[in-house]
Amino acid sequence: MRTNYCGLINEQYLDQTITVKGWVHRRRDHGGVIFIDLRDREGIVQVVIDPDTPEAFALADSARNEYVLQITGRVRSRPEGTKNDKMISGGIELLGKEIEILNTAATPPFQIDDENISENVRLTNRVIDLRRPAMQNNLRLRYRVAMAVRRYLDAQGFIDIETPMLTRSTPEGARDYLVPSRVFPGEFFALPQSPQLFKQLLMVAGFDRYYQIVKCFRDEDLRADRQPEFTQIDLETSFLNEDEIMDITENMVKSVFHESLNVDLGTFPRMSWHEAMFDYGSDKPDLRVDLKFTELTEDMKTEEFKVFRAAADMENGRVVALRVPNGVKLTRKEIDVYTQFVAIYGAKGLAYIKVNDISKITNTEDSGLQSPIVKFLSEAGLKTIISKTGAQNGDIIFFGADKAKIVNEAIGALRIKIGHEHGAENGYFHDEWRPLWVVDFPMFEYDEEEQRWSAMHHPFTAPKAGHEDLLETDPANSIARAYDMVLNGWEIGGGSIRIHRADVQEKVFAALKISPEEQQNKFGFLLDNLKFGAPPHGGLAFGLDRLVTLMAGADSIRDVIAFPKTQRSQDLLVDAPNQVDEKQLRELGLRLRQKTQTNE
Ligand code: AMO
Ligand code: AMP
Repeated sequence: MRTNYCGLINEQYLDQTITVKGWVHRRRDHGGVIFIDLRDREGIVQVVIDPDTPEAFALADSARNEYVLQITGRVRSRPEGTKNDKMISGGIELLGKEIEILNTAATPPFQIDDENISENVRLTNRVIDLRRPAMQNNLRLRYRVAMAVRRYLDAQGFIDIETPMLTRSTPEGARDYLVPSRVFPGEFFALPQSPQLFKQLLMVAGFDRYYQIVKCFRDEDLRADRQPEFTQIDLETSFLNEDEIMDITENMVKSVFHESLNVDLGTFPRMSWHEAMFDYGSDKPDLRVDLKFTELTEDMKTEEFKVFRAAADMENGRVVALRVPNGVKLTRKEIDVYTQFVAIYGAKGLAYIKVNDISKITNTEDSGLQSPIVKFLSEAGLKTIISKTGAQNGDIIFFGADKAKIVNEAIGALRIKIGHEHGAENGYFHDEWRPLWVVDFPMFEYDEEEQRWSAMHHPFTAPKAGHEDLLETDPANSIARAYDMVLNGWEIGGGSIRIHRADVQEKVFAALKISPEEQQNKFGFLLDNLKFGAPPHGGLAFGLDRLVTLMAGADSIRDVIAFPKTQRSQDLLVDAPNQVDEKQLRELGLRLRQKTQTNE
């Protein structure tokens, strides 16, 4: 019965009689003539119904937004001046002759084309929200990306193998989602944080190249780029080294961008983790922003200014400058806002120097440097700051001085914020795709809270050749065969070469203070099987949601997931999580410690 999709009708169909089916996007009564914009998944067509067809007219008159209609009519040209060349169907309209109301609709909770709906309302009414063309486009892009991935990996000899959802805890380091077992009261499955251990076992089993587009579950604090359940493009290979794996996956991302967006990403630069932290304070630098840190820690050890001196002398302390071209224009108020912004990351202040005249680098009243702190610094120190940052007249220099972790996070975030807010007009933000690989990650990072080393990637990641002995003697400086793919400041993928030898694995466990009992208990099934001739292997996983978010130009990964969770890990559509019957609990051998209050 349907002859055409609404959104695809163009001049090619002029004078033809066609039938479309879809939703009333808008209905307008133009004094005797009714206009209906009818919408289906391909877009909108304008339908005109005039009183010459009284039956159709009466039905059109009774139709309301989101009613489902079938309309048969003749395609005709729109009058000059009313054409819309942004739409495929913008040059034509349908003169409606016969209308059938396939279904009525309750008044929707919001207008489909209203852009200012709160996210909670959107997520509570997700089905209506998904009707919005932007959401339709996002989910179709997601599908095209997934298909391009499958085509690419299939052509490279990867096969898709499913792995269990009801399993044991996996080593990605987040909190597990647990599922109680009815058959074994008091025992639990964990939902996988990733298929990490299974994909390694598939390599031991000889499959050579595995991939899966797979759900992963992590109970962690959510941000714009995180969901408690998210989707990985997960892959693992045998006998390939990190360069070969990076090549294959870089080409995969390039081919996805080429097929889905017709964008050529070029060759991805590689940057060591140390370089990334040194220059950008981040292991996922947004290279669209052309600002770098200037390292001042050594130089500030001889200064009297206690804020800088104390940080420079501190163990793990760091002092950096961030030079912002043309920044003298920033007002006191804007600087205050930035000061509050860096405080989120623990910075105790945000010192700055406005560079008015570099011919007068003094710490006196008439200095060419305008700042509350110049009087505390020596002239030699000020000259060092100006020369090392390369500051010019008109620039502002911001400073971070604290533990390196705080400085990196605070000034790293400031770099991005200022870059996005002021970079375009001042030439230090480039709105383009800037992918890179971050390589040479440390094996371990020190967990201050727990007072011990933890794996930066996961405990099965191999150390660089020659770094095996450092695992014990100098864990801080042992480098991993791990790599992350970063795009425009987002970590979109990460992976590593795995340990396939028992002696190296033991050293890593020893450095992590994981006892033999705990090893056996947590990972026994992997360790036992690695003994049966495990091939050298390695792999990587991409965050599909993140990748598609970037490609779609969306603000949050929730906009590329059909039915996402809120920032508080709730599904507002189905209202989950929810309380369960006493009977269900009893069957599972569970009793609640206390009645939990919902929405508290
Ligand atoms: P990793 O933990 O780095 O590695 O995860 C891989 C990629 O998954 C994405 N990602 C997320 N996306 C949305 N919400 C989340 N909560 C979330 N957490 C991670 C990121 C990340 O780069 N098994 C290893 C991979 C390997 O070593 O092969 C792993 O899971 O884009
Ligand atoms: P104070 O001596 O605390 O008044 O600080 C003097 C200047 O240094 C002010 O502009 C503060 O914003 C700034 N400042 C204080 N602590 C830090 C810090 N940890 N990093 C950078 N600037 C700071």
